Amino acid sequence: MADAQTAVSQATNWPLARIGIDGSCYTHSDPDLSVDLQGWHSDHPVFEEVFKRHRPKLVTEIGTWKGASVLHMHRIARSLNLDTHFICIDTWLGSNDTLWLIDDLRQHLRLDRGYPNMFRQFVHNVRAAGAQDHISPFPITSTAAARVFRKLGIEIDALYIDAGHEEEEVYFDLALFYDSVAEGGAVFGDDYSEGWPGVIRAVDRFCAEKNLDLKTDTGKFCFVKRTTPRTRRQEALHRTAIVGRGGLRRARKMLFGR
Ligand SMILES: C[S@@+](CC[C@H](N)C(=O)[O-])C[C@H]1O[C@@H](n2cnc3c(N)ncnc32)[C@H](O)[C@@H]1O
Repeated sequence: MADAQTAVSQATNWPLARIGIDGSCYTHSDPDLSVDLQGWHSDHPVFEEVFKRHRPKLVTEIGTWKGASVLHMHRIARSLNLDTHFICIDTWLGSNDTLWLIDDLRQHLRLDRGYPNMFRQFVHNVRAAGAQDHISPFPITSTAAARVFRKLGIEIDALYIDAGHEEEEVYFDLALFYDSVAEGGAVFGDDYSEGWPGVIRAVDRFCAEKNLDLKTDTGKFCFVKRTTPRTRRQEALHRTAIVGRGGLRRARKMLFGR
């Protein structure tokens, strides 16, 4: 059902409007759906911390699902009087093995003649929240999206990563999008936890390679993009933080095997 009331008002200014991501997905309602904001750790305190500290104008989320985390960020932005725009990258195909293999998760995909139809649920949730002016859904794989961002010269102030959870997937998402994050911008994500060792390995490896100060808190990771070398004082603080985070334990294990 077409519904002009909830259509987007200012889509011509959107970062991806020229490639057709113009809010037209919001012009139809789905009266058979109700709001369903099932997600994972979508309202963790790290979101508020990032928004208060960075006051981002443009945020990209990789891995959006039904929109619980992006809508939480949108609420925070509003409460801080920020006019933040969000680009949500997701195939909306459940491109993560567990989402297909576990029966309870697969039903969320809303298979329709064998094809996932969960994008409709996302659109419904965004419309119900009245957030359609601020959220551009980009239905594409993250690797292809990274190239689009570079070719269009899109620079973002914060990047939230919650898509593929295998080591190589997370590492690629970090590495391919890093150039599109503004200097001093925030990179953060979900599932830095024992259940997802690939996430931990990828984030640790990336931060070690780029010499970045990683912060972790109950399953979330966060760091600030910094390409300029650290001052001597920052370097000293960084080393102290690494030791505090279990560096001694790791060093002992390396030297003595226990
Ligand atoms: C864990 S869910 C995201 C949850 C969401 N952030 C929340 O808090 O509710 C992961 C999502 O990532 C998407 N995804 C996985 N790998 C992807 C990839 N390479 N490119 C685009 N989307 C991907 C899946 O389709 C799925 O919707």
